[in-house]
Amino acid sequence: MTVSPTRRRLLQGAGALTLIAVGGAIWRAHDRGVFAEPSGAPYDPWAMWQSPDYQGTPLALVAAGILASNPHNTQPWIFRVRETEIEVLADTTRNLGTFDPYLREMHIGLGCAIENMVLAAPANGFSAAVDPAQGSLLGIERGGMVRAATIRLSRSAAASDPLYEAIPHRHTNRYAYDRARGFPEDLLRRFTSLPDNGNAVLSLFTEGEAFDALGQAIVSATDEIVADHEMIEDSHRWFRDGPREMARERSGLELDTAGLSPALLAAAKFLPALPAEQSHGAWAGQTRDTHVPTAALLGTISVRDRYDRPQALAAGRLWQRVHLEASAAGIAMHPLNQPVEMIDRERQLGKEPSAEARLAAVIGNPDWQATFAFRAGYPTREAMASARRSVEDVTKAG
Ligand SMILES: Cc1cc2nc3c(=O)[nH]c(=O)nc-3n(C[C@H](O)[C@H](O)[C@H](O)COP(=O)(O)O)c2cc1C
Repeated sequence: MTVSPTRRRLLQGAGALTLIAVGGAIWRAHDRGVFAEPSGAPYDPWAMWQSPDYQGTPLALVAAGILASNPHNTQPWIFRVRETEIEVLADTTRNLGTFDPYLREMHIGLGCAIENMVLAAPANGFSAAVDPAQGSLLGIERGGMVRAATIRLSRSAAASDPLYEAIPHRHTNRYAYDRARGFPEDLLRRFTSLPDNGNAVLSLFTEGEAFDALGQAIVSATDEIVADHEMIEDSHRWFRDGPREMARERSGLELDTAGLSPALLAAAKFLPALPAEQSHGAWAGQTRDTHVPTAALLGTISVRDRYDRPQALAAGRLWQRVHLEASAAGIAMHPLNQPVEMIDRERQLGKEPSAEARLAAVIGNPDWQATFAFRAGYPTREAMASARRSVEDVTKAG
């Protein structure tokens, strides 16, 4: 066969275009980390938390604190470090807007950081006493740094704890769980026999009416959030679009920890970021089809008053402990806080408290108010670490 000069030029042109397109796709895939696990400076705090530079100093407590669970990975904290105390400040500018209108979740996250710090104290030769700021979240000042608690330190003999060692292994796992394997009896027993500190209690369900009702409350609340434009826009502000943005912010949510299958993850990372409606619509689908149906255990943490500042910290401390216990036992966990987020939102809008009634029916005890909900089970995949700002970024001297 002979190829005419015109046809040859056309074929050469098409070949060049294909090469450019392939080259562009490879560049974009590389730039957006399509085939790579997240790495680099935003993930260093997971490896550096026991650095000799911090060991035996109050900074070792901060290095453990910043690895804690926290809402939308906002990391709403600043630590003012002195020789004998650390002030834990709420950075109220790092808020979730209508998703957390009373900074309740922010304070639960601060409680999580405090628990890690308390666990890190003995390992670094300190004993720690936590003095929480009193008062209600309903009247809390905003717009800057607000003291959440002071951790007072005194020297003591060094001692370690298995929960302290579990700190870098705890990650939120948003994949499907293996519900058929159930939930380990010994861990369930340990959770139900946790000492009652009078401030925060666990309710755990593995089957039955309350399990079904809590699962349904989670799915319904998620649909309600997705229908609330302001809420999803406020949530979306904390979604990071690719490794460059994450390298700059070192906080917020990323696709790698969203619980997507490898093929979907690669496609989602390659394509332009979805707008808030679509990404939150996909999240509602995951909640309904994966998160709730594959859970072997659904649970809540309740307090007497969910807007009391010390009680919000206590709920966070309990959540961090429970998640560390589970991580040490190879069990996956994942907060599903939509039912309580809707309680806050209805309150903010002055709406009838139907989300409150829905959750109160699950708890079944008017003396306790649920402030946190989660699922647990055997993992089907390991979760990845999420980004963190460094100790230096979040520490103030004196
Ligand atoms: C108060 C609070 C509420 C949270 N709510 C949710 C939630 O509703 N859905 C979710 O997937 N993760 C939730 N999380 C988990 C955070 O997104 C997660 O801890 C954060 O992104 C850091 O990731 P890591 O836990 O893997 O370190 C919540 C965490 C806290 C402390």
